[in-house]
Amino acid sequence: MKSQEELIGEISTVMERFMAQSGELEFAYKALEMQTEQLKKMQEELHQSRILSALGEMSATVAHEIRNPLSGMGGYASLLARSIPPEDPRRKYVDKIIGGISSINKIVGNLLVYTKKINLEKQSENLVAWVEAILAHIEIEIEKEGKNVKLERSFPPEPLNAEIDSERLQQVMLNLLMNSIHAIETEGCIRVGICTNEGFAEISVSDNGKGIEQEHLKSIFTPFFTTKEQGTGLGLAIVKKLVDLHEGSISVESRSGKGTSFCIKIPV
Ligand SMILES: Nc1ncnc2c1ncn2[C@@H]1O[C@H](COP(=O)(O)OP(=O)(O)OP(=O)(O)O)[C@@H](O)[C@H]1O
Ligand SMILES: [Mg+2]
Repeated sequence: MKSQEELIGEISTVMERFMAQSGELEFAYKALEMQTEQLKKMQEELHQSRILSALGEMSATVAHEIRNPLSGMGGYASLLARSIPPEDPRRKYVDKIIGGISSINKIVGNLLVYTKKINLEKQSENLVAWVEAILAHIEIEIEKEGKNVKLERSFPPEPLNAEIDSERLQQVMLNLLMNSIHAIETEGCIRVGICTNEGFAEISVSDNGKGIEQEHLKSIFTPFFTTKEQGTGLGLAIVKKLVDLHEGSISVESRSGKGTSFCIKIPV
């Protein structure tokens, strides 16, 4: 027969064990709860990214389908414009139709580049000559905009070769340079720089235009963010996508009212 003290001792040992185990159980339960919460969040994210990818595919198909009838409409509208003399009041309506078609074309074209899967076709390119050719094109765009914009170059004296998809990266440069032209009201300066730094080719585009407001800086690479009436807001989203495909990076510095500087780094 156990004494009363012995029984109390045993009961208290069992109680202690029970308390310890219930503490462990509580801890395990909390961990499980946290994991369930995380799992739920991951499920939601997966669902969201599935919706986004389906939307991306759908918009790529829609954009592709819109292209053909749109180019037909553009062609016929141009023919119509040619048959109506400029002084005819009906001419301005046709010009508006042509302007509208060209805006839709820009949106559809940008949407296609942004949503479709791109396989780069890289080859070795001398960046100095390559940028020079792009600037020749930009001179024409500056003329078209009727602005007094000076182009400054800061290039290395020797050729600088990098493996790039020249057509895709040209699109990057044109988007950056067109944004700079748009940021300059009537006159200003755009400086394009090329240099190498720790295994990377750095290409910078800086302007002394109106700059980007601090609160907009975090949104400029987000698709459809625009402060322009005629903008698609896809320019910089495409820039980011194409630079990422080159395993490069892009950074931006801007001061409202002073100017903006973008710098692309591409592995050499
Ligand atoms: N160099 C710049 N100077 C000032 N603001 C800029 C500059 N580059 C970009 N931004 C700002 O970032 C926004 C997004 O640029 P993004 O190129 O993506 O679209 P967008 O230029 O508005 O439209 P799109 O490229 O279709 O013409 C612009 O609307 C503008 O507010
Ligand atoms: Mg743009």
